[in-house]
Amino acid sequence: MKTVTVRASKTYDVQIGKGLLSSAGERLRALFSAPRKIMLVSDDTVRALWGDTLLTSLESAGYTVYEFVFPHGETSKTTDTIVALWEALAKANLTRTDLIAALGGGVVGDMAGFAAATFLRGIPFVQFPTTLLAMVDSSVGGKTGADLAVGKNLIGAFHQPSAVFCDVDTLQTLPPEIFADGCAEVIKYGYINDPALLQMLEKPFADDPEEIIARCVSDKRDLVEADERDTGARQLLNLGHTAGHAVELLSDFKISHGSAVAIGMVLMAKAAVAADLCDSDVPGHMERMLRQYHLPTTCSFTADALARVALSDKKRKGDSITLVLPDRIGNSRLHTVFADSLSAFLQGGL
Ligand code: NAD
Ligand code: GLY
Repeated sequence: MKTVTVRASKTYDVQIGKGLLSSAGERLRALFSAPRKIMLVSDDTVRALWGDTLLTSLESAGYTVYEFVFPHGETSKTTDTIVALWEALAKANLTRTDLIAALGGGVVGDMAGFAAATFLRGIPFVQFPTTLLAMVDSSVGGKTGADLAVGKNLIGAFHQPSAVFCDVDTLQTLPPEIFADGCAEVIKYGYINDPALLQMLEKPFADDPEEIIARCVSDKRDLVEADERDTGARQLLNLGHTAGHAVELLSDFKISHGSAVAIGMVLMAKAAVAADLCDSDVPGHMERMLRQYHLPTTCSFTADALARVALSDKKRKGDSITLVLPDRIGNSRLHTVFADSLSAFLQGGL
């Protein structure tokens, strides 16, 4: 088992290993004495696969467990679900000494975290991420929230978890395309600032993911500790996401998030080369790496369409937008462009 400690506004451990769901009750008692109440939040798919393992472990450790389960998928990440969860918390009479346990991917973690940030003006929560994406990214760093009809993640709060338990056994039931989505985020860390990770990724890691997950969590930890509120260095985590979100939206979400991020990373690398801001070997290196993990690297959308959608994203600030551009293999930096020059810039990447 590996442990990464995050020292942000709250200090907490991210534990990565096998069998963590079945030992969760005992592990949690080191942080939160029993008896107390836990609201276990999950989606229907994950609840059916892994819910009993966690529930049994928590109850055996002396906790009283309530459950809130919603239909899987991004379409559930709404204010309606949040309201229903708040009501379930109130009905179960949870107090500020009780806690929420999020069991699932990023959708579950983001909403459970947002409910924890807001119910009674803040109660503790712990994360049990069950997708690769959630283990390496969304469960760490305290960004919580939900979508509005007009855009993703438009409401939210910073609220750090009290602990994160990444049970890698849960990855065994993950469909290959969802595992591949997570691989895009893993590869992203390498191109942000971790060339050694890129070396490690030359060897497939699906059968033994602990070391890679711990490495990504450490990379994210460093950026979160440097800039918890996302006003500077943390924005590097958006590598591939500005163009990627536009690709996702323009495809009507037929292109998955991870695939869109992969396309977005290559597009940005090529655009940076065209603007003389990046070594010319970066796009080819990225394309080879992404293909190795079954991820796409091109799309057929125009620069104008991508720019129009990207500029309606929350990453825009007034007349400008900050992009994340690789400048050499294993390093990226922030680069701000005027909104009206974004289309021409993206054209260089197509
Ligand atoms: P998700 O939570 O929708 O999970 C994807 C699918 O996999 C779901 O259908 C789910 O039921 C299923 N699933 C989950 N674990 C499984 C398992 N072990 N076995 C079988 N099926 C399983 O999506 P995701 O990709 O984990 O997360 C995406 C969400 O995360 C988005 O809403 C995104 O905005 C958010 N996100 C948040 C942050 C953050 O910092 N808070 C960072 C990145 C992404
Ligand atoms: N996933 C981006 C962030 O946590 O900042």
